[in-house]
Amino acid sequence: MSPETTVKTALAEAAARLSGCSESPRLDAEILLSHTLGVPRFDLLVDGGRVLEEADRLRFGEFVERRAKAEPVAYITKSRDFFEDTFYVDERVLVPRPESEFVVETSLRLLQHVEKPSVLDICCGSGCIGLSFLRVHPCELTLADISAEALEVSKINAKRLFPSDPAINFVESDLFAEITGVFDLITANPPYLSAEDMAEFVDGTLEFEPRNALFGGESGFEFTERLINEAKEHLKPGGFLVTELGYCGERFAREKKYELKFVEIINDYAGIGRVAVFVRDQAIEKKAIVIKRETHKSLEEK
Ligand SMILES: C[S@@+](CC[C@H](N)C(=O)[O-])C[C@H]1O[C@@H](n2cnc3c(N)ncnc32)[C@H](O)[C@@H]1O
Repeated sequence: MSPETTVKTALAEAAARLSGCSESPRLDAEILLSHTLGVPRFDLLVDGGRVLEEADRLRFGEFVERRAKAEPVAYITKSRDFFEDTFYVDERVLVPRPESEFVVETSLRLLQHVEKPSVLDICCGSGCIGLSFLRVHPCELTLADISAEALEVSKINAKRLFPSDPAINFVESDLFAEITGVFDLITANPPYLSAEDMAEFVDGTLEFEPRNALFGGESGFEFTERLINEAKEHLKPGGFLVTELGYCGERFAREKKYELKFVEIINDYAGIGRVAVFVRDQAIEKKAIVIKRETHKSLEEK
């Protein structure tokens, strides 16, 4: 970039530099330049003739080079829009993805008539799912993750987004190991990449993100299966588990037998089964107790 670089030419040059390494080079360039200048993206379009000061030009150039080496834009700007808020993010957490908003929307629909539900967002990372639910529906919220570092980030977000709600509970826990109590809703975006996915993506587009946020077991579904089965002990009767799925997750969610009752799959905009809903079903449990009692009785009679 030359010393007389304008906003317009800086964007064009950056987009050209990023065209081989990003799926959205122009958008990335706009976000990075608006971050550099501290102005909304819209201002860049109306102020294309503005000449960049040298310090901004150099800083923007550094950001573009980091992006060219595959670092996510969100780690460079330390922020990511998700649902109704902008979240703080850094290398300690997965960058929130738009498809995870389906977990929030589905949960809000299912719980719309429950006043002040108790909600556990497990594998919370930045806290984006649980905090987005709280943004719309008052609840008693617990955020849990195995990573103490991820929990630090979720605390930053809770403090920034809900400064007057000190009641959010944070738990460092390997799945449910340290979780006490039962909930009306458990939300999760668990690690769900398979061994094959890891080999394909982790040294490329995902290399900057925490590995324990990604790997879900050999098939990618082992972790989710554990989550579904262990969730039962932490749901109230009639309580829901809403979990995000990987690419093959829909088949496993529909076909396997679980401790919870399968309810539905929600597709994303690309038509991929993205979210699975399970419920702790009282009717099924009562039936199981009756069968147990009857089996016991018939054994005693023999
Ligand atoms: C795919 S990320 C999701 C983060 C966030 N919920 C989101 O949607 O952006 C998965 C998260 O699960 C956490 N995790 C991995 N293994 C875990 C375990 N055994 N118990 C609890 N959390 C775990 C990771 O630290 C990571 O923050």
